[in-house]
Amino acid sequence: RMAQAATGRMGIIATDATYHGNTTAVSQLSTRMPPVGGRARHVRLVPAPDSYRQPDAMANGKAFGDAVREAIASLAKDGIGLSGMILCPLLANEGFPTLPSGFFDDAMRAVRDAGGLVIADEVQPGFGRTGSHFWGHQRAGFVPDILTMGKPMGNGHPVAAVVTSREILATFRNAFRYFNTFGGNPVSCAVANAVLDVIEQEDLVANARDVGAYALGLLRPLAERHECIGEVRGAGLFFGAELVHDRETREPAPDIAEQVANRMRHCGVLMGKTGIHGNVLKIRPPMPFSRDNADVLIGVLDEVLGEVGGVKA
Ligand SMILES: Cc1ncc(COP(=O)(O)O)c(C=O)c1O
Repeated sequence: RMAQAATGRMGIIATDATYHGNTTAVSQLSTRMPPVGGRARHVRLVPAPDSYRQPDAMANGKAFGDAVREAIASLAKDGIGLSGMILCPLLANEGFPTLPSGFFDDAMRAVRDAGGLVIADEVQPGFGRTGSHFWGHQRAGFVPDILTMGKPMGNGHPVAAVVTSREILATFRNAFRYFNTFGGNPVSCAVANAVLDVIEQEDLVANARDVGAYALGLLRPLAERHECIGEVRGAGLFFGAELVHDRETREPAPDIAEQVANRMRHCGVLMGKTGIHGNVLKIRPPMPFSRDNADVLIGVLDEVLGEVGGVKA
């Protein structure tokens, strides 16, 4: 709605394997649970990059940029026009593909040339999780016009925020006179401030970098023992493995991913499954996660993969 107020246009672009939340507006973007009655005509979904199956298409983000340009042209043709593009800079729900630096440049240029805004959804990579940067968009190398943040902001306390320029906020408030029952709650703000203090005082971004690299180092050799691991990837305390039925054909194994996640849960270790094909184990531990914790995680995962992951290579 901010992007729409600022541009006076409706169109919004997202990837075709994303999730951005629960409101009627953003649930329009969800592909796994498509909206009742079909997708609204102002939404365009572009193919999410798949670094494992189509590494060539990843080379410089040109294919992604072309898809965005096509979506912009389609919105123009239908007389809708572009308000913006929303992206998780880590493409977390898309399976956190390995993106070369500058991958988004071409797409961003296309959006800006069309007068659209860039919205970064930092709910997953924000607050230092990737270990290299505090925000996912810094790591991805672009500056958004609007930034949304949530979960890690309150370390469990329900608090979320949106950040934008004064100009965009002013246009939005002029257009909709926005206010919110829970907005600006001082208790939630105090919690969010305390979380920032702890991240800083306990050097948790460096911890994410160190323990994330350590855990990936433990996870990689598992691929030598478990045939179902097609690829191991990640950044900081956001890592995982793409599971396949066959390494040659790279046939996705969402069924194995589901079994693994469920068995892990029974062993006391929580992880999710995500990605374009729902076959990527998503491991996103709490920020104070330690090397000892990583040892436990990988030890249990090794056992569980041995039980459900099929033949050993
Ligand atoms: C990328 C992304 N954005 C937003 C959300 C949360 O949205 P909401 O605040 O509507 O629950 C999630 C997950 O729940 C998410 O993965």
